[in-house]
Amino acid sequence: DKGNHRHFMQKEIYEQPIVVAQTLRSYLQRMEGKVALPIPDFDLSAIRRVTIVACGTSYYAGMVAKYWFEQFARVPVDIDVASEFRYRAPVMEPGGLMIVISQSGETADTLAALRHAKSEGQTIAAVVNVPTSSMAREADLLLPTHAGPEIGVASTKAFSCQLAVLAALAANLAKAKGKLDEAEERDIVRHLAEAPAAINGALAYDESIEAMAGAVAGARDVLYLGRGTDYPLALEGALKLKEISYIHAEGYAAGEMKHGPIALIDEHVPVIVIAPSGPLFEKTVSNMQEVQARGGKVVLISDYDGVAAAGQGCLATITMPKVHPLIAPIVYAVPVQLLAYHVAVAKGTDVDQPRNLAKSVTVE
Ligand code: F6R
Repeated sequence: DKGNHRHFMQKEIYEQPIVVAQTLRSYLQRMEGKVALPIPDFDLSAIRRVTIVACGTSYYAGMVAKYWFEQFARVPVDIDVASEFRYRAPVMEPGGLMIVISQSGETADTLAALRHAKSEGQTIAAVVNVPTSSMAREADLLLPTHAGPEIGVASTKAFSCQLAVLAALAANLAKAKGKLDEAEERDIVRHLAEAPAAINGALAYDESIEAMAGAVAGARDVLYLGRGTDYPLALEGALKLKEISYIHAEGYAAGEMKHGPIALIDEHVPVIVIAPSGPLFEKTVSNMQEVQARGGKVVLISDYDGVAAAGQGCLATITMPKVHPLIAPIVYAVPVQLLAYHVAVAKGTDVDQPRNLAKSVTVE
């Protein structure tokens, strides 16, 4: 049932404040300022290395999580798309944690990677949305997302819930490895607990995103740029746009522009720049200005300070609430989803059932 919404995708975008809160509830003891796992005594202290494997949007959630595992727990992280993982003879030593991320829990390549890693003696954690799925059953540590059924083929609420679980897992691993003191743990819990309200704040800009979607709907190609955890978001933005609006879109690390893709820039290619204010802001803005200097039409997604500092000269700006960098990827997922959604609606494509795509990919 779509309720008041025109599409399941729209409904699911709007469910995010509630389902992220619901998901966080089983990973945070908010009052105590503690992170927790659904299996409280699962011992992570011997984990020396993490391998993340997933496909599509779930893979981009994993890319964001790599920053968190390395930053908080100081544990090295490998990440692969599941369809490539087994073909590079990955080295899996004792003390390895394999994390599979999957909405459906049935994606064939991800499941095959799980089985391969298990046979090599890795501990398996599964971040899945379907608790009865194959991955949920075969994992040693089941980490459910509580997004509820996701009907739209384009993944939205599953992604933000995956990020919430992965942030909590990174904090748990850091704690188990003695890398997190009580004050740091309390801060992480406080920031994560702010995510649902911040997502609500992001949803408040829906109409302004709808109003500028026309400027993107006529394009043949669109680029997305981001740096740090906003780089995977750029990839996710491009995937969302191409799969539901059929506009060719690519995400790049902002600093990679000048190594090739900048040759594509002219006034017909909108460039979506994801740049919350913070330590990486200035660098991303200078990449954005390189685009503008070549006639590129920029849509800047930032907070009030970022838009005030760098918004002039942009084709459009999208203003987000100002949030802590830890939750920025969760919050900035919203404008990226809404932009793809409104562009697709403007083009009249089938938003919930895009051509050639299946919700669950059970062949390799
Ligand atoms: C994109 C999308 C796909 C899935 C991918 C993995 O919007 O939905 O890219 O993310 O097929 O699916 P799961 O998460 O079920 O393994």
